[in-house]
Parts: sequence; C-alpha cells; structure tokens
Amino acid sequence: MKIAVSGKGGVGKTTFSALLIRTLSRQGKHVLAIDADPDANLAAAVGVPDADRIIPISEMKDLIFERTEAKPGSIGGFFKLNPKVDDLPDALSAKLDNIKLMRLGGIKKGGAGCICPESTLLKALITHVVLSRDEVVVMDMEAGIEHLGRATASAVDRLIVVVEPGRRSIDTAGHIKHLASEIGLNHIAIIGNKIRGPRDEAFLKKHLAAFEFIGFLPFDETLIEADLDGISPFDIHSSATMAVQKMVANL
Ligand SMILES: Nc1ncnc2c1ncn2[C@@H]1O[C@H](COP(=O)(O)OP(=O)(O)OP(=O)(O)O)[C@@H](O)[C@H]1O
Ligand SMILES: [Mg+2]
Repeated sequence: MKIAVSGKGGVGKTTFSALLIRTLSRQGKHVLAIDADPDANLAAAVGVPDADRIIPISEMKDLIFERTEAKPGSIGGFFKLNPKVDDLPDALSAKLDNIKLMRLGGIKKGGAGCICPESTLLKALITHVVLSRDEVVVMDMEAGIEHLGRATASAVDRLIVVVEPGRRSIDTAGHIKHLASEIGLNHIAIIGNKIRGPRDEAFLKKHLAAFEFIGFLPFDETLIEADLDGISPFDIHSSATMAVQKMVANL
C-alpha cells in the first residue's frame, strides 16, 4: 500500500500523516514514512527521537556526489541519471517501532525543469520506494505532487488530499486533482480536517462533490497544543486518533 498525502499549506497534512503512520505501526504494519515537504517536520509529529537532528537527504553532499558521480549544486555537468538508491531506506532512516522515516529535504530550483544531481537522486529514491518496497509507504508532501511522475503514479494506491472548511483549500484540492490526472493518478480521496460540526462537513461535501471522502477529523485544540509542545498527536488524547483508526479500516 502506497499513500501520498497532499493539500494546501497548514490544513493538517503532517498531523494526519503522523496519526496514520503511528496507527499503522501500532497495528503491526511496517511503515516507510517519507517527509517530502522541505518546510515540515514529519519526524517530530511521528515522535521520532531527536527529530531535529535528522539531516535531509538533499543536504547529504557526499552521498549525492558518490551516487550520481557529480558535484552537488552543479547544473549542466555530467552525472548518472540512475543512481543506486535501493540501500538508502534501510541505511538512512530514523526509526521508531515499526516505522522507518526518511527526510528528503528541499531542492533549490534552477531554471525551468532543472535536472540537478540532488533532484535526480531524490526522484530515483522515490521511484524505488513507490515501486519496489514491501512496506506501507506514507508520503507527506507539499501542496503539489512534484515528487511523483508518470512512472510512479500507477503504483500510488491513494492520493489523499487533506482539506479544511475554507475556499482556498477547496481550490487547492481541485488544482491537485488536475495535476494528478496529468500523470495518470486517479485514485484520489479527501479527508476533511478541522471539522467543527455538521455544517463544516456539509460545506466540504457540497463543494467537493466530485471527490470520494474517506472521512473527517474533528477540530481539536489539543492537537495544536501537542504541536507547540513538540509532542506527537498520537501520544496525546485526541478524538482525531480514533477517527484515523476508523479511516484505516476503510482504506
Ligand atoms: N484537527 C485539527 N484541529 C485543530 N488543529 C489542527 C488539526 N489538525 C492540524 N491542526 C493544527 O494545524 C496546524 C497545521 O497542521 P500541520 O502542520 O499538520 O499542517 P500541514 O498541512 O502539514 O502544514 P504545512 O503545509 O505547513 O506542512 C498545526 O498547528 C496543527 O496542530
Ligand atoms: Mg506539513
């Protein structure tokens, strides 16, 4: 099972991903968690010890140099387009229970369609993870689906778009659906987050009528407190955890 999580900034992608990852792990599944959002910290939300000290792969200059045989940051030079990556998930993951977590990091964008060694390595890694790993894979992504392409789209079982009751997150969901359809990724489903009551659910269902809904997570201030305190949302008492368990049963 390969799951990608996307949605507008701040809707709760990382919170939901963390709850999903910990729930699956608790059920005895082996989970490979991929933090693909340069600005996020999935490791902290999952509750991995020393989350702040995990070095993103895009910053591992020696590794990038070794595997692609190029100089990191170089554009237009020669380097390998199919670097070896199959050993990286086991070698570089942070671990907690049944969870292995990899932090991809960000890539400085060059000109349009920049093909640099860093992005080549990450792309190869994601392709490997999506196509060849046996674990459940959960990818916490940005508002787009930049890391996915035609080759990987068919192997993604679900693209979960997190939305909150608000116009902009609905617009973003439409945008993501469009991007996904361009690479042939059609298994999209919505999770409504920060739900304050039936009116919020009805609002989202009305404006996203073309989408399948997996479920809703309640607005819960204890999740914000946990975030501020650097505690995993799974390690506090929140009704969202129960809601995610129900969703997993439906997945
Ligand atoms: N159901 C909820 N109820 C209340 N607050 C929530 C809920 N879900 C998430 N939050 C809070 O909203 C904020 C953003 O959540 P989170 O970081 O998970 O979003 P994100 O989509 O990953 O954001 P980013 O785009 O910055 O990566 C956090 O403070 C989080 O605690
Ligand atoms: Mg996030």
